Amino acid sequence: FGQKDQKDKVLIGVIGGSGLYHLNNLKELKEVNPETPWGRPSSPIKICALPSGTQIAFLTRHGQGHTIPPSSVPFRANIAALKSLGVKAIIAFSAVGSLREEIAPGSFVLPNQIIDRTKGIRPSSFFEGTSVVAHASFGDPFSNKLVKWLEERVGKVLAEKTEGIQLFTEKCILCMEGPQFSTRAESLMYRQWGADIINMSVLPEAKLAREAEISYGLICTSTDYDAWRPHSDTVTAAEVIKTLHGNAETSRVVAATILDDLHAAISTDAGKALLLEEVGSMQYSIM
Ligand code: ADE
Repeated sequence: FGQKDQKDKVLIGVIGGSGLYHLNNLKELKEVNPETPWGRPSSPIKICALPSGTQIAFLTRHGQGHTIPPSSVPFRANIAALKSLGVKAIIAFSAVGSLREEIAPGSFVLPNQIIDRTKGIRPSSFFEGTSVVAHASFGDPFSNKLVKWLEERVGKVLAEKTEGIQLFTEKCILCMEGPQFSTRAESLMYRQWGADIINMSVLPEAKLAREAEISYGLICTSTDYDAWRPHSDTVTAAEVIKTLHGNAETSRVVAATILDDLHAAISTDAGKALLLEEVGSMQYSIM
């Protein structure tokens, strides 16, 4: 971009999930649509300025008009495109189903673990088809320090700016293939496995961010109780859509409040060392 000022660097990428097709308080500066070796991203990426002048990159995971189902999201192109802009940290948003009574629809969740039910179905590595054998560490699939940093800020925003929307932390998200929702038996099994929430899109996004050495945190908003609850109807798309818009509005408030602080934090050497743990991590991953 030929930019000199810290403010003009695009260090943060925001990925919007279902319902989150724009953010608030942003001035759109331009759209970019980089061609990567894995094709183009889900939608052109909007380079936007916060009121402070801080620039961020905003990408909608399912395309602007929600035309791309989870199994067809060009995850590699999305992460490669954000990497090509210089993004060092990704804050991704996702609508999720709840597998726990206490995580009521409307709740926010910051997961710290993932169970993969898309393995072998979706292309999940930048190294596939190359002669490089790489095994990225993925024991902690999210950037723990970034998630801790988010916990404090997101909790504060929800406490101060909403009527008691709850935040759950240190939860396990199960990523299923879809596009159909789970059966009751599957939903009950996922609970037994220890999963707390369920979606169709955190993977391979989080794996690819790790391979690209980008710090990645996921902010989830619960839309439904999936299919495990006895005597309750199982989830429908209509039910998900009902809670989606309110959740997206709260997500916009959260984003508008934390992005400047995050940019400021990762623009300092101390913040970089603390929050951008993934930088350089792949040097230990190549066989
Ligand atoms: N996204 C939102 N709700 C979901 C559910 N119940 N299962 C999978 N993905 C979801």
